[in-house]
Amino acid sequence: MPMLEVENLSVVYGGIRAVRNLSFHVNEGEVVTILGANGAGKSSTMNAVMGLAPSDPSSSIRFNGTAVEKLPTEKISKLGMTLTPEGRRVFPQLTVEENLRMGAISLGRRGSAAELKESAFTRFPILAQRRTQFAGTLSGGEQQQLAIARSLMSAPRLLLLDEPSLGLAPQVVEFIFDLLKQLSEEGVTILLVEQNVDQALAIADRGYVLASGELQLEGKATDLRASSGIERAYLGLGAV
Ligand SMILES: Nc1ncnc2c1ncn2[C@@H]1O[C@H](COP(=O)(O)OP(=O)(O)OP(=O)(O)O)[C@@H](O)[C@H]1O
Ligand SMILES: [Mg+2]
Repeated sequence: MPMLEVENLSVVYGGIRAVRNLSFHVNEGEVVTILGANGAGKSSTMNAVMGLAPSDPSSSIRFNGTAVEKLPTEKISKLGMTLTPEGRRVFPQLTVEENLRMGAISLGRRGSAAELKESAFTRFPILAQRRTQFAGTLSGGEQQQLAIARSLMSAPRLLLLDEPSLGLAPQVVEFIFDLLKQLSEEGVTILLVEQNVDQALAIADRGYVLASGELQLEGKATDLRASSGIERAYLGLGAV
């Protein structure tokens, strides 16, 4: 049984259909990436999985066998699935440390908040240096690290990341991809949305390519890297 199994996902906002009949899955231990041009429906997909965007009644989303499509986000987080949303949303008027504490709210019995906080500071040395600083005054790269660190405070079994490298300097991008590799080696299952196609496919086991809310291409990361389908999807040229 896949860890995450999404069947027939459709997301409609008012009259706009952002995702149409999308099916995909993530097996335990995998890194899976969802790729696609701006507006392809990647964030809508991630948000719908977390109960943050409306999924059509015909959609089915199962996490470790539990139907989650009607559950509120807090309950989904408690089951062990967490999203680092697009745009590094931190609480600007809370300190780094307070932001981390907020992340532990849905920890449940999976770990100790104090230990997780110390491991966050080991993993992200820059956050340790800035633990009493207001998050709103951190640089973009630091805020992204904090956003990921906050997600990790719930000890997720499945970590969803929506464009974690967006707008960051190459060194920070490298740090984040190294971190994802490390987390994967530690046993965290990862679903990653990225614009950084080459780097995402380099760490992923499998990938799905969306175009205009529909699945255009799927396969092993190594096969996708060699395919011309991705460029076509990004250029809006349709399936090969
Ligand atoms: N809350 C919303 N209300 C109405 N339309 C929305 C909403 N969120 C997204 N959309 C629309 O749904 C479509 C898909 O958007 P989505 O944010 O899922 O794309 P994306 O693949 O994440 O794009 P990007 O790479 O730019 O982040 C777009 O046409 C967008 O305008
Ligand atoms: Mg997006």
